[in-house]
Amino acid sequence: MRRKRLGVVTDGAFNAGLTVRLDPGVSTESLRIGDFVIVEGEEYLYFSAITDLELRATDARVQADPPPDDAAFLREVLQGTATYATVQVKPYLMMRRVSPAEPLAAAEAALVGEEGPRPVKTIPMHFAVLCEAREEDFAAVFGAEDEAHFAVGTPLTQDIPICLDLRRFVERSNGIFGQSGTGKSFLARLLLAGIIAKGLASNLIFDMHNEYAYSVQREGGGWAKGLREIFGPSSVLVYSLDERASRQEGRAVDGVLRLGLNQIEAEDVLLLGEELDLTSTAQATAGLLQDRYGEDWLRALLEMDAEAIQAFCAETNAHPGATEALQRKLKEVARRPYIQPQAAFDQVDEMLHVLEGGKHVILQFGRHQRLLDYMLVANVITRRIMRQYEAKWNRYLETRREEDKPRQLMITIEEAHKFLNPAAARQTVFGTIAREMRKFNVTLMVIDQRPSGIDTEVLSQIGTRVTGKMTEERDIEAVLTGVGNRPFLRGALESLDTRQQVLLMGHAVPMPIVVQTRNYDEAFYQAVAGGGRRPGRPEDLAGKLEELFG
Ligand SMILES: Nc1ncnc2c1ncn2[C@@H]1O[C@H](COP(=O)(O)OP(=O)(O)OP(=O)(O)O)[C@@H](O)[C@H]1O
Ligand SMILES: [Mg+2]
Repeated sequence: MRRKRLGVVTDGAFNAGLTVRLDPGVSTESLRIGDFVIVEGEEYLYFSAITDLELRATDARVQADPPPDDAAFLREVLQGTATYATVQVKPYLMMRRVSPAEPLAAAEAALVGEEGPRPVKTIPMHFAVLCEAREEDFAAVFGAEDEAHFAVGTPLTQDIPICLDLRRFVERSNGIFGQSGTGKSFLARLLLAGIIAKGLASNLIFDMHNEYAYSVQREGGGWAKGLREIFGPSSVLVYSLDERASRQEGRAVDGVLRLGLNQIEAEDVLLLGEELDLTSTAQATAGLLQDRYGEDWLRALLEMDAEAIQAFCAETNAHPGATEALQRKLKEVARRPYIQPQAAFDQVDEMLHVLEGGKHVILQFGRHQRLLDYMLVANVITRRIMRQYEAKWNRYLETRREEDKPRQLMITIEEAHKFLNPAAARQTVFGTIAREMRKFNVTLMVIDQRPSGIDTEVLSQIGTRVTGKMTEERDIEAVLTGVGNRPFLRGALESLDTRQQVLLMGHAVPMPIVVQTRNYDEAFYQAVAGGGRRPGRPEDLAGKLEELFG
């Protein structure tokens, strides 16, 4: 089947892109900014995106004196003669056509040994034909669903699955951005479900608002399942910081987490500086205390009376007022219900063990939803896990045995700018992971509505960016840090609906594309519970039977 023709190339430049005159009868309203289209050159196919739509007139009189409302016939006559429409098209990838006369589908071409799509290095000549992409074209560029490719949505104007390469997605840190209500948490759940179904990484999820493990209410009614409910307790473990959560019916938790004062380090105080409203001098005092008392620094500080503070300051040149302020604020932390004077790392190490076994851990915060709780706990746990992971990696480098290689780990955090703002990113474990832990098989999935708050060096390390609607100029700028063809991508971002539409760009997609996010619903649960394959296959049935009857 030939592709549906939309128009012909009439003008263009390699850098600026191509101008295509739409055929009469093709309405601009059937096209969208960001649509994936094909230009058929003589030797190559060009996989391209629509970057602009324009209305033109050959005769200035039409613009000065448009036909009246009731002149339907006159309008029809003018359309395609005196008036016409053009689209701007930006080619991203090209692939040799197998037979110039009868273009083979891209996927077939790959089969006969032709190279797959490559970045563009040229442009087609005048009158090359612009066509709508077919399912095979999408598959040739974005891949078809398989052990790494996962359908995340469809183009805005066609019902064809568009895949993300999840193996590439997890191998670098990635980000989900968009203003509130655009569907970030739903999309994160969708992607996590894909990664779990395909077994491409272990996931550690810091679930601030208790929305990843069990059902959450959809806006507008109904419930959406959590990952534990989809994949079951043999694959997804749930820990909670709130002992009350352990008593909720139908929402089992595998453990209630406790943190010890001995586990809190000076680094945590730096991260929490803003939440605790501490001056930089007070933050620095934590470092002095840690130098002096080691692991016991926080307990030592909390036990100090006025005299002891004086003595400590005299000895270390610390500032007495700042030391008192630090003590006052940290007493507040010590009173949090999940904190106890002393704790071993057994529970965290148990989590690590679970993750190494290819399972997934969701840590819920229950009632403890202050940013203070979230940041402190996520930082302490992640630091421990990182140290262990690094040690394991170094052991692997010594033995070089495949079985010693640490499993790919992805850590999901919300409100990421709080962890990764320029001050925090330089000093805390999350900044280190974003910048360099990829080498050790650890990456982050950062979810944020304010990417402008994230350190630019960290942003530039984010491999795949999945971005919903954003209106703040600086957030748009931040998301486009370090990517080419910004005017087009900016236009694509601005044209998104406020919900369930995203621009995909970066490491896990060969070219940027706008998609309507897949529905997170019953059909989706069925598809992923069967390993991410399309439902209805015999092996899915076997899985279902096993689930039902054990
Ligand atoms: N893929 C999807 N399938 C079904 N419903 C969706 C999907 N994406 C978004 N929605 C709907 O949009 C609503 C908002 O989505 P979500 O809670 O993920 O937004 P958010 O970006 O995380 O917002 P916030 O920043 O406030 O946390 C959901 O309650 C749901 O009704
Ligand atoms: Mg959310």
